[in-house]
Amino acid sequence: MRTVVCKNSREMSEKAAKMIESQVILAPSCVLGLPTGETPVETYRLLSEACEKGEVDFSGVKTYNLDEYYPMSPENAHSYRYFMEQNLFSRVNVKKENTHVLNGEAEDPDAECAAFEEMIEKDGGIDLQVLGIGENGHIGFNEPGASLYARTHLTTLTQSTRNANSRFFGSVSEVPERALTMGIGTVLKSKKILILASGAKKHKAVRRLLSGEVDTDYPATLLNLHSDVTLICDEAAFSSERIGVDIGGTNVKLCVLNDANETVFKTAVKTPGGSREDLLKLICGKCLEIMKERNIDAVGVGTPGIIENGLVTAVNLPFYKTDLCKEIGDALGLPVRVSNDASCAALAEKTCGAAKGFDNAVLLSLGTGVGGGLILGGRLYEGRGSAGEAGHFVLRAGGRKCACGKRGCFEQYASAGALARAAKKEAQKAPQSVLARLILENGGKAGGEIIKKAADAGCPSALAAIDAYSRSLALGIDGLAALLDPDVFVLSGGVSLLGDALINSVKKHIKCGLPVKRALLGNDAGAVGAALLQ
Ligand code: PGA
Repeated sequence: MRTVVCKNSREMSEKAAKMIESQVILAPSCVLGLPTGETPVETYRLLSEACEKGEVDFSGVKTYNLDEYYPMSPENAHSYRYFMEQNLFSRVNVKKENTHVLNGEAEDPDAECAAFEEMIEKDGGIDLQVLGIGENGHIGFNEPGASLYARTHLTTLTQSTRNANSRFFGSVSEVPERALTMGIGTVLKSKKILILASGAKKHKAVRRLLSGEVDTDYPATLLNLHSDVTLICDEAAFSSERIGVDIGGTNVKLCVLNDANETVFKTAVKTPGGSREDLLKLICGKCLEIMKERNIDAVGVGTPGIIENGLVTAVNLPFYKTDLCKEIGDALGLPVRVSNDASCAALAEKTCGAAKGFDNAVLLSLGTGVGGGLILGGRLYEGRGSAGEAGHFVLRAGGRKCACGKRGCFEQYASAGALARAAKKEAQKAPQSVLARLILENGGKAGGEIIKKAADAGCPSALAAIDAYSRSLALGIDGLAALLDPDVFVLSGGVSLLGDALINSVKKHIKCGLPVKRALLGNDAGAVGAALLQ
């Protein structure tokens, strides 16, 4: 199937009109199969305009319409005969006797359908069949079902089609319950098929069509059996987007990525302090708000903590063996993937950040704790769910006590706390230094910002603190390098905001000689990476 994606429905209509015009110019006595509905209205207007200007001549063209309500008088303003007269037939120079719309008043509908098929055959078959697509995947009035009639037939409309078409009537109850329609076999016998789709409400149908499957429950997918089909649709019908959710102790960040992995929307809300239900309600509520406006296909969630068999346990969040995929997935009716937040950040940096173009990368997030994410062989490596927990391999036997219960974990020497300790030590050694003064002014706290400010001012004590901290960090990096031999290390998290001062110092101390880079996506990495989970 050839797929042409247009910016909007206007452009879709222009391209469709051009394709129909070309057909008529190349074969002036061709047979066109035509649809009704909202989608082709602008295309018909453009064809009428072209005909008025003398650019295209319909005098030799024969037309067959896809369907008609039953029972329905051709004079009724809701009939498809009426629609075609209004939108095309009366506005182009097609001969009345060459236009064929099934008779919604036929006493014997079966005979009407058989005669219609015969006429198409006699006219040499349909050269170009133009189609719309129903939200439920119907083509003409071929509704989803276990078996589909191949030929023109009388059919019963589904409730969803009657609901969708009620916009043209006063109410659903006025929409006829039955219709006459070309069969899927009739459509598939056409030499060429052009299918049009516009607007977000057609997105699911378009995606199913493009999946390549053939399923009678989605009649449009049967077009995949034809060798000459062109789909012209607009971006709203075509593009699919994913939500990424990064659950943090302070904020929940959400973003939406499009097909090109560009962030098209982002927002953040405060993490509610209460129960698991409160937190999930907030996340699902935000996602549902986004889903009202956009074509969301999937949701990814990044969370701190341990993930075992898909169950999340996080100390700082109300999650204990929580099945986030199921709980969020059931509420949204979408597939949900969950991963560790540092793994998400690694995936984001690999896809569109500092590790782009590298197949093997280790991300270290240096903040209150130390997290890690692994990209191995071009893919996120999660082990059994929690791989990359770099903060908790032991760097110094019998070293500092860690919250995890062990001693000497890497986290104890590479977290923001470790940097603050190094800074305070240097400040004590040189009470007159810029660093010491800034720490004093800050009530004795040695935050990353202060250390950066002092380092940027060239303060030797600040640079010495960064150097001391970097020695430990480099030790851990060398250990990981020996084990994984990645192409690149990426440093993220609060400490990485020290920038070049940190990177240069780490590079000086590592023995592995591998590239060390600062993460590029900053605070967005978790949510972006979550949206990239597959
Ligand atoms: P629409 O209908 O063009 O009005 O969306 C298409 C269809 O239901 O086949």
